[in-house]
Amino acid sequence: MARDLPALLAALPKAELHVHIEGTLEPEMIFALARRNGVSLPYASVEELRKAYAFTDLQSFLDIYYAGASVLLKEQDFQDMAMAYFERAAADNVVRAEIFFDPQTHTARGVSMETVISGLHGACVQARQRWGISADLILCFLRHLSEEEALATLDAALPWRQHFIGVGLDSSEVGHPPVKFARVFERARALGLHVVAHAGEEGPPEYIWQALDILKAERIDHGVQAVNDPALMQRLAKERIPLTVCPLSNLKLCVFPDLREHNLPALLDAGLCATINSDDPAYFGGYINDNFVQTFAATGMTREHAVQLARNSIEASFAPDAEKDLWLRKIDRLIEEGSG
Ligand code: HPA
Ligand code: ZN
Repeated sequence: MARDLPALLAALPKAELHVHIEGTLEPEMIFALARRNGVSLPYASVEELRKAYAFTDLQSFLDIYYAGASVLLKEQDFQDMAMAYFERAAADNVVRAEIFFDPQTHTARGVSMETVISGLHGACVQARQRWGISADLILCFLRHLSEEEALATLDAALPWRQHFIGVGLDSSEVGHPPVKFARVFERARALGLHVVAHAGEEGPPEYIWQALDILKAERIDHGVQAVNDPALMQRLAKERIPLTVCPLSNLKLCVFPDLREHNLPALLDAGLCATINSDDPAYFGGYINDNFVQTFAATGMTREHAVQLARNSIEASFAPDAEKDLWLRKIDRLIEEGSG
């Protein structure tokens, strides 16, 4: 008997390609780590902190997100945070996770690059052993800071070059176009790193063009503003440049007023390699399967869309081809069994 749609969405093997590990820090863990590390918080309780999660735009979220990350001091803290994410991801049938981290948020507080990367890398190794999840790290530069600071951050991370597969660009988008980071992305590419960039979340299609033409981004994170530029839509479809779309994030940051108006179905129907991801699930009200289930319920997308999204996520990932083939066959089997 065929599964109902929410069961199919849950059962599909999927890759999560857009999740900021600092955005998986649940309020309970923020308070537990604050106690463990003797950090004082400007909120009296978990409930009070959760109540502050009423965002109006990207910046209103980032201010609280950076404050939450201030409880992370030791290698074990980073490992515990990432293990909590992997446990949730495993329950959602995530087979591959490409995880963003923001070293500058931590090094600015005196936490060493080694502490950050060792803790997160340790969790990636354990995720494979415990849940069979294939996981890698992507180092993000904070775009509200200077390119010189991004270059220094890349240099500082090079002793752990083997522990991350790529670089990305996040934080406040408008006013900080991709071109600002042309040199550091060129350097990253020369080092053999993958390159991705947030573009077209709140910023204009021009930032997506820059991410493609100047940074040579292999994927665009968010990218939902592309629908306002037909020539860009054609390019994204023709070159199958993946968009890592995050519907609940877009809803909570008021990029769309209602999930029913999200343009994900339009992106898919235009032939783009769009994917569904959670972005900062502890802040936006749901992990990857919540994003799938709520978006499908709101937009009326079909089982065909579901299978396409799962396949897109595998295609768009930076995993080795042998692993990708295995997961694509798993998706085929799920459908052939009649359960799809
Ligand atoms: N956009 C930009 N920067 C971010 C985000 C996002 O959605 N989440 C965490 N840092
Ligand atoms: Zn993001």
